[in-house]
Amino acid sequence: MTDPHERIDTSKPHSARMYDYYLGGKDWFEVDRHAANAVIATYPTVLTAARANRAFMHRAVRTLAAEYGVRQFLDVGTGIPTKPNLHQVAQAVAPECRVVYADNDPLVLEYADALLRSSPEGRTVYVDADVRDDALIDAPEVREVLDLDAPVALSLVALMHFVPDDADPYGLVRRLMEPLPSGSFLVLSHVTNDFASPEDTSTAESLYNRGGTSLRMRSRKEIGSFFDGLDLLPPGLVTTHRWRADAPPEMEDTDVGFFAGVARKP
Ligand SMILES: C[S@@+](CC[C@H](N)C(=O)[O-])C[C@H]1O[C@@H](n2cnc3c(N)ncnc32)[C@H](O)[C@@H]1O
Repeated sequence: MTDPHERIDTSKPHSARMYDYYLGGKDWFEVDRHAANAVIATYPTVLTAARANRAFMHRAVRTLAAEYGVRQFLDVGTGIPTKPNLHQVAQAVAPECRVVYADNDPLVLEYADALLRSSPEGRTVYVDADVRDDALIDAPEVREVLDLDAPVALSLVALMHFVPDDADPYGLVRRLMEPLPSGSFLVLSHVTNDFASPEDTSTAESLYNRGGTSLRMRSRKEIGSFFDGLDLLPPGLVTTHRWRADAPPEMEDTDVGFFAGVARKP
């Protein structure tokens, strides 16, 4: 890819910066605030949805490290660092955890320093890469940090709705899982249109699409297809806030608007 500094485009909204705005962060530009506010006007619950999604990622990673002994994570579509980041959650359970982060937004690369503060026993690395590029799994950083003979958790959290149907999203996930050994995991969350009217779905999709980011909301059934061939851990494919919730969920499914699951490769 070209120099990431040159690739930072402040004339168009970016999904990573809009998400940072939803989460209450400070790493966005005026164009992102404008686009994010237009989404909030259609989907006022997007702020709750973003927080519930982030909390799902924390619980999923903690569960895999604490209960399933996972020590290696490949997190694609990492986003602008927001504490705690994935490695901080995993390394709080097991300091030796190794994490590869990847994102295609040059601004995330700018902030990657925060992702590289690994525990001394573990390791973190950042790759400037696109999930649509099958070569990602062969990146030298991936091969250097991850031992693909031992289980790896592939984390695609709030990412695949940015991959349109014509980019073969299901094939991409299958091919990313292929080189990982039995006992590896897929952690995935995805925006759904199950709770939205067709009008709101098309408004939200076109707000992103107009800004140059493709958004494809999918039904629970379509999201479930990402897990084909894998064994979903209990409680299965549920809205993010219901996945092994620490406390009885106070939000409604309609406020959350994301389905999420964690599955094991047999
Ligand atoms: C909504 S954020 C999610 C961040 C984090 N995974 C989380 O859930 O808290 C989506 C991230 O995916 C990244 N992204 C979007 N399309 C991508 C692609 N084709 N390849 C790699 N990253 C992508 C964006 O830059 C953004 O950082």
